[in-house]
Amino acid sequence: MKSLVELLHELPKNIAHRGARRQAPENTLAAFLLAEKLGADGVELDTFRCATGEMVVTHDDDLKVWSNGEGKVTKTPLKALKELDFGSHFSSEFAKEQIPTLQEVIDSLDKNSFINIEVKTLALRPIQEVLEVAKIIKLNNIYHRTIVSSFNPIVLRMLYKTDVKIPLGFLYQFKLPIYSIEYIFRSSKAKLQALHPESRLIGNTLMKQAISRGYQINTWTVNETVEMQHLISLGVDSIITDYPDKLHKILTKH
Ligand code: G3P
Ligand code: MG
Repeated sequence: MKSLVELLHELPKNIAHRGARRQAPENTLAAFLLAEKLGADGVELDTFRCATGEMVVTHDDDLKVWSNGEGKVTKTPLKALKELDFGSHFSSEFAKEQIPTLQEVIDSLDKNSFINIEVKTLALRPIQEVLEVAKIIKLNNIYHRTIVSSFNPIVLRMLYKTDVKIPLGFLYQFKLPIYSIEYIFRSSKAKLQALHPESRLIGNTLMKQAISRGYQINTWTVNETVEMQHLISLGVDSIITDYPDKLHKILTKH
């Protein structure tokens, strides 16, 4: 456990999960800009590479889930994606919300906001996605306020080989000992900056092991006050939440 003094100096980042998704349609510019207004330090967003090569921001490849379209994001050109309505599933007030590109989100956010780019592909050779994400981070020079996370370790290993400066976080939701995570990355020698476990997996043991091995802990999806307080007391580095306003209130009391 960290001392009280250490905790006071190192409160976790408040990261809005898919933007402020309880008050605006998730993964849209409306949700990201609202998250900043509500006190988030940054946003988590989900990305796919569309048919014309741009990285676009949405949680599912199936267009039916979040838009009035059909088919797959990965098989649709950007121009056609931009004609779809990504807001009405939330409320008619947001009917004009389009799918944003990753570049548009970077352009819209405050220059101090943190961006957790989750790469969603399950491909065994996700070369195009990796090259595109690496290109965008380099072009915008956002290494200091970005982390790329993925459930797909191949994405992270390939990113490490493409640009060693990109901060990387491994996402997982089942209990995995840290040595097994290190084993997954050993052959590529990829260095992770952070582990991104689901919040129910976090306890004192994981925190101690992570700290002793130099990993940050960024956890998701934390929506209850009691759990937020518990994770702050354990000393996690980021809390990814659907309620950045609630977390902001708790953090400002510390
Ligand atoms: O990055 C944390 C979290 O977003 C992972 O799960 O399904 O919400 O993208 P999901
Ligand atoms: Mg995500």
